[in-house]
Amino acid sequence: QFAQKDGFRFFMEKEIYEQSNVVSDCMLGRIQDEEILFDEIDSSIIEGINEIKICACGTSYHAGLTASYLFERLAKVRCNVVIASEFRYKEPLLTKDTLFIVISQSGETADTLEALKMAKNAGLKTLVVCNVDNSSMTRLADHTILTRAGIEKGVASTKAFSTQTVVLWMLSLYFAKQNDKISKETLQKEIHALREVPKSLIVSDKMHEKTKRLSKRYLHGHGFFFIGRDVFFPLALEGALKLKEISYLHAEGYPAGEMKHGPIALADPELFTIALMPENLLYDKIKSNVEELSARDSTICTISPLEFELSDDFIKTQKTDHYMLEFFEMLVVLQLLSMEISVRLGNDVDMPRNLAKSVTVE
Ligand code: G6P
Repeated sequence: QFAQKDGFRFFMEKEIYEQSNVVSDCMLGRIQDEEILFDEIDSSIIEGINEIKICACGTSYHAGLTASYLFERLAKVRCNVVIASEFRYKEPLLTKDTLFIVISQSGETADTLEALKMAKNAGLKTLVVCNVDNSSMTRLADHTILTRAGIEKGVASTKAFSTQTVVLWMLSLYFAKQNDKISKETLQKEIHALREVPKSLIVSDKMHEKTKRLSKRYLHGHGFFFIGRDVFFPLALEGALKLKEISYLHAEGYPAGEMKHGPIALADPELFTIALMPENLLYDKIKSNVEELSARDSTICTISPLEFELSDDFIKTQKTDHYMLEFFEMLVVLQLLSMEISVRLGNDVDMPRNLAKSVTVE
């Protein structure tokens, strides 16, 4: 209740700008020269574990999906992700060789909390990645890792997501090291990239102006497809969710390679494709997916460090040597774009209709 907007128009805007700093706080003391440390957990947490199951809702679910790629790629541990409201009633098979991770900004979301209770009752080891200390979930879980994002007021979550993703990336490296699944060189490379994340999250005036200017072209049409591959698929889901939440425009996040199995039928100039085209991950694959959409006349906005001749609009991101740095910069672009579209449509950015910051009913 004491939070101030500090000269920003909206809490969401302030929180987008805060990301660089809060992510530094989130990493503080957790990255030592060549190692990841979490004082709040110990190495026994991963002993005897053959699988990680992640459960969450909303934006936190998107952080979980992103993490599932990192846990498998870096820590070589099987990982699956379930939406909490689905998990509760699907009669899930739970075995004790599974580490159960819940992700929640508030620590109070009813479905996630109930999923956590189910896992505890089944005798699983549990861990919560949470932004609120002493919340229902941190009290219940065996282990807690706090995201240190500070109070988040905007209903559309921003800094909670970036800090969750950083924590989960660090955790995948922590597990990788504990289980001896990562080479020294790869670990060094990953840690080097992690240290650069705060820089990737800095909002430049130029970028903000660009999204402001572009937003006026994306107020109508019959829908948006945000597309990406690998971790850029959950990022696409998150971009689409942000837009839906505050602009009330119809948007879907889709795995780029899946467009040909149905959604491409919708393509025409009134269909807006927002394509996430990182240089460091599957660039040629996504490029051919975007070419297919372009050939069907979809209006295309690409976000990439590389110019792409078929784009109607192009948002240029910085060149880096790690796809996760591209991920965080693109995250900021998507947040800004949805906010500026919402502003132009005259909506209340911080208090979108029908939504609540924390959903404590089923
Ligand atoms: C609500 C909020 C979302 C949030 C979701 C999960 O729907 O509007 O922004 O992602 O709940 O919340 P949690 O606190 O569990 O992360």
